[in-house]
Amino acid sequence: MATLRVKRFVEGKSFWREYKVEGEVLTLLDALNRAKELEPDLSFRQFCRAGICGTCAVKVNGSIKLACLEKFKDGMEVEPAGKPLKDLIVEHDFLLKIRGNYLIPKEGEVKLLPRELQILKRSYDCIACGICNFVCPVLEEGNFGSPYFFTKLYKL
Ligand code: FES
Repeated sequence: MATLRVKRFVEGKSFWREYKVEGEVLTLLDALNRAKELEPDLSFRQFCRAGICGTCAVKVNGSIKLACLEKFKDGMEVEPAGKPLKDLIVEHDFLLKIRGNYLIPKEGEVKLLPRELQILKRSYDCIACGICNFVCPVLEEGNFGSPYFFTKLYKL
């Protein structure tokens, strides 16, 4: 039997809860689902379960990780990746902020040289989960678009 500690956030109060996880559990997301069986109001996000959508991002022992890709280990401590709305569900308001009219792709075909494509490759590999925003220290300073915003902008 393994232990999972989760920092919960309910109605403005945060507190740690410990869950005993039984049986074979491969990923942290599996462990969270087991914990939810024990405490059905435990809230977290999941969607693709394959490291593609980024909705399961959480802070694990102090580092931001995707719960569906993170191998579960006894004693893991899980916290919300950003400002919590409930338990591990966090605000993704940065997604709303960049949905303005100023990010409109160019009409028609844009021709790129192979070396230009190589430079842009990393931004095309981005799954747009926004984890980079959760860990960016410059965002605290304000007056900065955000890594997520510039990755989107770079593609356009
Ligand atoms: Fe989609 Fe984890 S559930 S990345």
